[in-house]
Amino acid sequence: MLTIPDNLQISSFAQYKEWYQASVNAPESFWSAIAEQFEWKKKWNNVLSYDFKKPEVKWFEGGKLNITENCLDRYLKTQPNKTAIIWEPNNPDEETRHITYRQLYVKVSHFANVLKNNGIQKGDKVCLYMPMIPELAIAVLACARIGAVHSVVFAGFSSSALSSRINDAHCKMLITANEVYRGEKKVELKTICDEALENTPSIETVIVYRRTVEPTPMKIGRDKFWFDELQKVGKDCEAEIMDAEDELFILYTSGSTGQPKGMVHTCAGYMVGTTFSFQNVFQMQSDDIYWCTADIGWITGHSYIVYGPLAAGATTVMFEGVPSYPDYGRFWEICEKLKITHFYTAPTAIRALAKQPLSFVEKYDLSSLKVLGTVGEPINEEAWHWYNDYVGHGNCPIVDTWWQTETGAIMISPLAGITPTRPTFATQPLPGVQLALMDEKGKEIEKKPEKAEGRLAVKFPWPSMARTVYGNHERYKKVYFSQFEGKYFTGDGAYRDASGNYRITGRVDDVIIVSGHNLGTAPIENAINEHASVAESAVIGFPHEIKGNALCAYVTLHKDIQVSDQLIKEIRSLIGTTIGPIAKPDKVIFTPSLPKTRSGKIMRRILRKIASGQEDQLGDISTLLNPEAVEKIILAYKKHL
Ligand code: PRX
Repeated sequence: MLTIPDNLQISSFAQYKEWYQASVNAPESFWSAIAEQFEWKKKWNNVLSYDFKKPEVKWFEGGKLNITENCLDRYLKTQPNKTAIIWEPNNPDEETRHITYRQLYVKVSHFANVLKNNGIQKGDKVCLYMPMIPELAIAVLACARIGAVHSVVFAGFSSSALSSRINDAHCKMLITANEVYRGEKKVELKTICDEALENTPSIETVIVYRRTVEPTPMKIGRDKFWFDELQKVGKDCEAEIMDAEDELFILYTSGSTGQPKGMVHTCAGYMVGTTFSFQNVFQMQSDDIYWCTADIGWITGHSYIVYGPLAAGATTVMFEGVPSYPDYGRFWEICEKLKITHFYTAPTAIRALAKQPLSFVEKYDLSSLKVLGTVGEPINEEAWHWYNDYVGHGNCPIVDTWWQTETGAIMISPLAGITPTRPTFATQPLPGVQLALMDEKGKEIEKKPEKAEGRLAVKFPWPSMARTVYGNHERYKKVYFSQFEGKYFTGDGAYRDASGNYRITGRVDDVIIVSGHNLGTAPIENAINEHASVAESAVIGFPHEIKGNALCAYVTLHKDIQVSDQLIKEIRSLIGTTIGPIAKPDKVIFTPSLPKTRSGKIMRRILRKIASGQEDQLGDISTLLNPEAVEKIILAYKKHL
């Protein structure tokens, strides 16, 4: 039997190996011992039941709990005055906010009553479209407190992306802010919401937080101000008792068809997985100050700004702004000011900051830093060394954390200061994570001692895994469980070295990671094809110095339509309004036709090679239906350059 300390932390590499082995030999007793460290209303009857064929996974069945009692109530007793959230505003002249565990508890309970007072009940879906302000975390936790299911939509998405997500989950309420600051810009969020709300019949109430003093358009009867609503209700709110497998939230991620997938996470397994991984990967000590620069609109923000850190009783920083405002020293200025000990960001941000003069980072005292983290995409060697040398000064272990919206929690990562690191490698699986590398034929590549490369799969359930795609279980089965029998398929390729360290090589499907954002090619192509002049399009990713990948759209126009700059503008803007600015391609190339197989499938491999400047490595193109198209595409591409 393992002895699990209160903080769940492994303290040596030998112990990591011991725990890992225990988690494989006896997963149920391993996770049961971890779960014992949380507060339950009623203990579970059964640790795990699963069937990957259906697929169906249940953890801690029969257990009853509320995740907010684990994030808030239990710390009322032990550390009520500890800071739970530090908020750093976009505008450097605005004040930093510090919210203690006790204050957060009150704010969450108070706002939970606003939800109830507006008719929200357990199981109702609530959409959150908000800036990175503490009220976003408060709204998330308030939903969880009463058992409402939150669906946070990143506030950079367009109105139509917002309405399609609201409709998919039949959200009853939308919570937003009037405006959002983003660097020098101010965006009218409520106006975007109003556009979205023209097509969302399920929304009954809109709660609006006033981030700025500007007048806000309000629809009488439907729209209500956050502060006005608080005046109407009390501050005490009992936590709803939830079943372990009740839904906690829905979060959308891109897929290879037009419709995004609403990944469903459930209460207990998610709590156990995020807290366990947070404690172990970051090796938090009680006075540490932890900052994850992600947005709560993504899974990283859910798991490692809100739930993981709060359930671990940590101090978590929320930043409203962008790394370049008021200048490229902003991240480092905040690190110095707040004495950040743990800093977790995306490789794309590191690459962008590494491009700037060194004076931006050298100006600040970063000696408080103890651990650095990366997430969201592969980190290249150059960026890794820059991060290590200029931010960590060679003293901070870098945890390269691999995971997904679907996995809920970190799956592969060094444990800070414990696992030997290797640049560009996410290294070893966390306890409880049983990986498999699959070959072309769908057979598992046996371990050790050889190096190997293949497709990454997981062969045993872990507590924080998504349980379904909201409203479409068939899709969940098809995307994740039908590629390799009896295994979860990640969509990623990976390399494994002789010591069992993993390096993620990138997506092997039609998802492209641009600046750490997961984008499906299909929805972008659908948006382009909406343009009246467009006959067909294909979107691919090509390597980009800062973004990791950038998008290139190959577009075929209807007969007799003339190519023009105006047309490019219209296509880009159509993508911006349908999906959001992050999905706008860097390049739009007009070609007379697209390369197709005889069955009519677009050969993206060829398009990718051309956009990566490898037109001399196209391989055999004779099997194409229209090999002559290739030469014309190369010409069109070169003309564009
Ligand atoms: O391709 C992998 C990449 O991001 C994908 C998951 O994207 P998303 O669901 O948006 O979640 C991002 C934040 C967890 C993965 O399939 N990815 C994530 N982390 C890494 C990574 N690729 C390489 N190294 C990583 N550390």
